Amino acid sequence: MNERDSEIISQSLAQHDYIETLEMDSADLIILNTCSIRAKAEQKVMSLLGHLRKNKKNNPNLKICVAGCVAQQEGVDLINKMPHVNLVLGTQHIYHLPQLLQDGDKDSQVVTSLSQDYAIPRFIPDIGNFTSSEEEAGTFQFSRFVTIMQGCNNYCTYCVVPYTRGREVSRKVSGIVDEVKVLVDSGVQEIILLGQNVNSYGLTNSVTNNGSPCSFAQLLHEVANVDGLKRLRFTTSNPKDLSDELMRCFRDLEPLCPQFHLPVQAGSNAVLKRMNRKYTIEKYFDLVNTLRGYCPEIVLTTDVIVGFPGETEEDFSKTMELLERVRFDGSFSFKYSDRPGTASAKLDGKISEEEKSQRLQLFQQRQNEISLENNKKHIGKEFEVIVESLKDDKYQCRAVTNHIVHVKNEIPCFPGQAIGVTIIHAGQHSLQGEMIT
Ligand code: 5AD
Ligand code: SF4
Repeated sequence: MNERDSEIISQSLAQHDYIETLEMDSADLIILNTCSIRAKAEQKVMSLLGHLRKNKKNNPNLKICVAGCVAQQEGVDLINKMPHVNLVLGTQHIYHLPQLLQDGDKDSQVVTSLSQDYAIPRFIPDIGNFTSSEEEAGTFQFSRFVTIMQGCNNYCTYCVVPYTRGREVSRKVSGIVDEVKVLVDSGVQEIILLGQNVNSYGLTNSVTNNGSPCSFAQLLHEVANVDGLKRLRFTTSNPKDLSDELMRCFRDLEPLCPQFHLPVQAGSNAVLKRMNRKYTIEKYFDLVNTLRGYCPEIVLTTDVIVGFPGETEEDFSKTMELLERVRFDGSFSFKYSDRPGTASAKLDGKISEEEKSQRLQLFQQRQNEISLENNKKHIGKEFEVIVESLKDDKYQCRAVTNHIVHVKNEIPCFPGQAIGVTIIHAGQHSLQGEMIT
């Protein structure tokens, strides 16, 4: 979501004649678009801001803007801690940035109000203003993000998102489909629909399509119907409201890639309950079975938190058992960290850093073995992959399964080109392929 927001910020500033530089020392405006999902991400922002004091000394005209979730969370405190910051821009205000910079002769501004009513029209505008105009879609990227909703109402007890991104707001079907059409017409082959909680699409501010309510699965049908769209993906789903209708899309919709990120977070029902995830591990296993029934080749990934407050050795062993049972193709795993304002920050039974590190290492080690074993099964198979970039003497490509495939650059290819490869080698995190001539 932050990556897409950063694109929107760049696009809207470019429309106001700003020129992007990748050299921070020569910039007159530096924007940090920040994440506060875990403590580590936030610490990085604070440390970079500390370094920027010297840039401000060297260039008194320099403006520093902090956007994203750290800005939303800290508000005016950020200016108190870091007085060289000029603008603290909350998550619902990225579209106002050019105007705020124009108005901003003041030393420091803090714009962080959150409100759903006010978020609907401004936070997620329909195509036309700052979303993908044909002009900017011409700067070719074969894969593009399209935001379909913002915010979250789930309040998992560890999670800061409902506080930093506000309540759920879904964008209109027509705006989403129009944006996808413009992108696909300009040559984009892959669309990734984005939302913190896509399964709730359309539920909060009742989105309609031709007068009828529109679920996320129905939205997928609409987007998959866009002529010329080759690959469709989405992220992220909460298992608690994963419908059969949505799972069937993996069987029925040709462009929907056989790849699904379904965060489980923990293997113990006691922990899931304290996390307020609203599903049991048995329900999760059922979902995985159903998904694999509809789409046997589906590649599954997940998110896991280790060391949630009160997580016993036995709870953790259930997370390890879950790995054996589901055999995810990959996972993102994190040590639990307290986030400001969340319910779990107030829970007793905090696990020591040392214990969390040990659990994380055990988890990651086993996951890596399983990923390798799963990846090895692809050796000898033929895949169609899309070239993303050239690194050293190899093309980095992506398969429908979302695997990264490295391919020797034997013949010239361009980013976005589809090529056929045979998989000849498998690593934990990527595959190696040979071009089929
Ligand atoms: N501590 C550790 N991990 C967290 N995540 C979210 N909040 C926390 C936290 N407080 C992880 C979850 C989520 C992913 C995006 O980040 O696994 O799915
Ligand atoms: Fe956070 Fe995701 Fe839970 Fe929402 S569903 S509160 S974004 S972990």
